[in-house]
Amino acid sequence: MDHRFDPHLPLDKARSLPSEWYVNQKAFEAELAHVFRKEWIWVGRAEELSKHGTWMTAQVGKESVVVTRDFEGNLHAFSNVCRHRAAKVCRAPRGEGSRLRCQYHGWTYDLEGRLKTNPEFEGVNNFTKEENPLPRFYVKEFGPWLFVSLSEKPSSFEEQWEPFQKESASFQIEKMKFVKRVEYPLQCNWKVFIDNYLDGGYHINTLHPALAGVIPYSDYRSELFSRSSLQTAPLKPKTGDGVSQVRKGTAQYWWLYPNLMINLYEGVMDVNVVIPEAVDRCRVIFDFYFEDVSQENSSFIDESLKVAHQVQLEDQEICQEVQKGLESAYYQSGPFSLLREQTAYHFHQLISKRMTL
Ligand code: FES
Ligand SMILES: [Fe+2]
Repeated sequence: MDHRFDPHLPLDKARSLPSEWYVNQKAFEAELAHVFRKEWIWVGRAEELSKHGTWMTAQVGKESVVVTRDFEGNLHAFSNVCRHRAAKVCRAPRGEGSRLRCQYHGWTYDLEGRLKTNPEFEGVNNFTKEENPLPRFYVKEFGPWLFVSLSEKPSSFEEQWEPFQKESASFQIEKMKFVKRVEYPLQCNWKVFIDNYLDGGYHINTLHPALAGVIPYSDYRSELFSRSSLQTAPLKPKTGDGVSQVRKGTAQYWWLYPNLMINLYEGVMDVNVVIPEAVDRCRVIFDFYFEDVSQENSSFIDESLKVAHQVQLEDQEICQEVQKGLESAYYQSGPFSLLREQTAYHFHQLISKRMTL
């Protein structure tokens, strides 16, 4: 395993994470342990659990988790792995009721994770229901979203989100309404998708012809914070063009370490989460929100979703190609553009500082 990556170099001397970090199983496992089991990870929308007595499932790194809202309205999060034979306790994306019932042999847990029934288990030694609740995790509601941390000592959520809260206030995200979720499976390491997002607009003109005139490349700006970064672009309307009808104002592209991206436009928000599935596979969730969800705005919404889908297909194709390139014996790492790619280096620094290989 190649450990060469120096996070202390200035950008002009820096190189990207070694390609092995994108293709090696050990590196992947280290990321699951040191990144995904340590950080606050976005798991879904708070409105999915707005009713008392409901639950939803999500993936944090490779771990399946279940988040519940009990009958008092309190949130809880647990490992979604049954204490009996490791089946998933909850299989559906969401549900309601007072019990979580494992489909395999029917053990049940309450919404606080306590094992309530385990039929035909009389006489078994050293096993009590009281001592076998589902392992509990931290959960937090923030704005329209839910986050889970598997860490025993989670890092400060407030500190990480402070820049976002301050800088995005004018977009009034509390007024945005969820419209649609789209998921894309990708044949690449999850970091390839983040790298693509964090290249400061470097690929827009070449890869996204439809965005080229709308997002003025020269006015693209990046700002780094301790565990997030912001790319901004004042959008230029092009008359008669579909893209500029649905992307207006100054766009903000937020990245929150490690795997969450929030794109803000006038009246539009899309949230992208990249979930690692294997060292060379990931899944991206896109949640689309609009301020105006009235019938009169439906063609705007349709057009906006179409633009996002087209851009995603272009990004997806290049990400999958990059993964193949990272597997090549003739590529190890590359330099960063000083004008564009400080956000990508910042991501690599954060990852490398937390990894113990
Ligand atoms: S694995 Fe859940 S009841 Fe057996
Ligand atoms: Fe892109």
